[in-house]
Amino acid sequence: MTHRVLMCEPVHYRIDYEINPWMRRSNRVDGARALAQWRRLRERIEDLGVTVDLIQQAPEAPDMTFTANAGVVLGDRFIPSNFRFEERQQEEDHFIRWFRQARYTVETIHLPHYWEGEGDVLPAGDQVFAGYRYRTEYRALDHLEEVLGRYLVRVELADERFYHLDTCFAPLGEGHAMYVPEAFTADGREHIERHFDDLIAVGPEESLRFACNALVVDREVVMNTGCPETVRALRERGYEAVESATDEFIKAGGSVKCLTLMLDAFGPVVET
Ligand code: ARG
Repeated sequence: MTHRVLMCEPVHYRIDYEINPWMRRSNRVDGARALAQWRRLRERIEDLGVTVDLIQQAPEAPDMTFTANAGVVLGDRFIPSNFRFEERQQEEDHFIRWFRQARYTVETIHLPHYWEGEGDVLPAGDQVFAGYRYRTEYRALDHLEEVLGRYLVRVELADERFYHLDTCFAPLGEGHAMYVPEAFTADGREHIERHFDDLIAVGPEESLRFACNALVVDREVVMNTGCPETVRALRERGYEAVESATDEFIKAGGSVKCLTLMLDAFGPVVET
C-alpha cells in the first residue's frame, strides 16, 4: 500500500467555522499541542519508510492540514476536489499550485458538482469505493468515473458524524477492511459487505475515536490512540497498529487518514 503521502504542517490550524458536527468554535485548538501531535505522526509515518511530501499551509485556510481532501492522484495526474463548503474552497488553488509545480497534470471535474477527494474515494485492491451524500455528490461521481477510467462502488453515508468515507471505512488490503456498519445506508453497507472476505466492524466508542481513519502501510496501520479493541482485531489478522494521538484534530472532525493524501493510491508515483 502507500509509500508516499502529502502532508501539511498545521501552523495555521484553527476552528474558525463549523461545517461538521465535530467542530465547535468554542472548542479551541491548542496550537502547540496540535503541532506536536502532527510532528509525532509525521515521524511515525516516516519511520515506516513512507516518503512525506509537504505543502505549506495558507494562513487563511485553517483546515488545509487535512490534505486527504485535496483531490486524488493517479500516477502523474491530479484531480482536485470541488469543496462543498465555501470555507474550504480557497484551498483548491493552493493544492493545484503545489501539484503543478511538482509537474503533475491537473484535470478538473465539472463544476458545480462537489466532491472532496480521498476523503470520499478510496481504492481497495482492484475496486474503488466512493462515499457520497454529505461532501461528495452522486453526480460528481459520474464524471469522476470517466476521468479515473475506473468503476466506482458507490456507498451512501447515513450518519453526519461520519461525513466522509474515510471516517468510517478503511480498506486494509488482501480482502480485509474495517468499517462502521451504522455509518452507511443498508444498501451502502451491503456493497461493502459483499466486497470483502473479512470485515472488522468497529464499535460505537472506537468509531468515534476515528479508529477507521487510518493510514495503511503494508501490514502497519497508523491510527489514533485509545482504540484497544480495534488494535486487537487488527493483530488477530496479522496487522500491527501504530498509535499516534490526534485528539487536537478530532476537534475539527479528522484524524490520521484525513491528515495524509496518498500520492501512490492509484499506482506508483511518476518521478518527473
Ligand atoms: N474540518 C474538516 C472538514 O470538515 C475536516 C476534514 C477531515 N478530512 C477527512 N478526510 N475526513 O472538512
